[in-house]
Amino acid sequence: MLQIQENVSLKNFNTFGVEASARYFVEINHKDDLVELFMDPQWMQTPMLVLGGGSNMLLLNDFAGLVIRINIRGIEHRISHNEVFVEAGAGEVWNDLVNFCVIRGFAGMENLSLIPGSVGASPIQNIGAYGVELKDVFYSCIAFELATGAFKTFTKDECQFDYRESIFKSELKGQYIIVSVKFRLSLIPSFNLKYGAIEQELNNRGIHQPTIADVSKVVASIRVSKLPDPSTIGNAGSFFKNPVISMNEFLPLQTKFPEIVNYPGANNMVKLAAGWLIEQCGWKGKVVGNTGTWKNQALVLVNHGDATGAEVYTFSSQIIDSVYTKFGVMLQREVNIIS
Ligand code: FAD
Ligand code: EPU
Repeated sequence: MLQIQENVSLKNFNTFGVEASARYFVEINHKDDLVELFMDPQWMQTPMLVLGGGSNMLLLNDFAGLVIRINIRGIEHRISHNEVFVEAGAGEVWNDLVNFCVIRGFAGMENLSLIPGSVGASPIQNIGAYGVELKDVFYSCIAFELATGAFKTFTKDECQFDYRESIFKSELKGQYIIVSVKFRLSLIPSFNLKYGAIEQELNNRGIHQPTIADVSKVVASIRVSKLPDPSTIGNAGSFFKNPVISMNEFLPLQTKFPEIVNYPGANNMVKLAAGWLIEQCGWKGKVVGNTGTWKNQALVLVNHGDATGAEVYTFSSQIIDSVYTKFGVMLQREVNIIS
């Protein structure tokens, strides 16, 4: 029997640590709980928020509808020649899954070590770090369709993954709840060490033939040195996406700002480091009321204590305005804004 709670504080359910309450709150421990929940027509008409680890959202107000916290557990794997298929419940903690794979020598996820949040949210924005994205290890996922109550399997192509994007964030937003994700990994590692300081950090440790566990440890230690720990200072990781602009827009910008940090990509597009743009506008480490940017990473907005979601949002708008005024580049929020 599902327990629907009323007027539940979400402060401990979002890594920004902002106060907001849920009018109704339910925990889902099994995929069939969703079928049971939506048999009651009341919930078909109620606004709904799916919650994993709450590490990529900013709550602006109390939520007047039903918060559905996904806690579906379980990890299974099957080895086939040199490939491994791993299937995990949406409520598994992402980093627990990474550790499950690292310990067993299943390669592919090591660069995604220590990303907060749940397995079920990982396809939503196609999580990525250190040169690897979820799409590189994703095989398929199973999702509950709210309109029909049916479970549908999505293949990788159907998810339309892109940089911090998927079909679940665009065309199908709010229409499906992911209940499990299947990954395709390898027993033969093929490391991606070029990004950031991974190679240098391995050298510093005297490691010249790294194992999967070595790479995972090094990625985790680089992340800890740059990013604030949400258990001590509220945040949701990068608040904005790194902007992607055309080469035609980029070249005059580079002439004006020769130091501009950039990553040329496919189709004549260039990705800019939003952290650099924000730092150049003087925001790095700034404290503004209860909010601010992180001292080691200007792309991360933080809660210094009692910030409200609205306060963080207003601050983020100030940053967008100043980056636009200086560089003519419009930052897009990466964090999901829940109003
Ligand atoms: P939530 O915040 O709970 O939800 C995020 C969105 O997904 C919401 O819209 C929610 O409704 C929806 N959702 C959640 N679960 C489901 C589900 N089962 N079905 C359907 N919709 C669902 N992200 C990166 O990509 N790379 C990084 O390197 C990275 N570093 C971070 C570092 C820190 C310190 C923090 C705090 C965050 C970081 N993030 C990073 C962002 C975050 O970890 C990811 O976006 C993560 O996937 C969010 O998972 P979650 O379970 O907390 O999602
Ligand atoms: N930089 C600055 N000042 C800053 C921050 C960054 O100048 O305050 C410049 C530096 O030149 C640095 C470059 O920006 O070398 C890139 O910075 P970093 O390596 O920290 O990565 P990022 O581009 O800021 C992205 C992701 C992170 C991911 C890291 C590592 C986005 C929006 N963010 O950050 O993801 O962990 O790369 O791969 O793509 C997240 O999504 O929440 C997240 C943390």
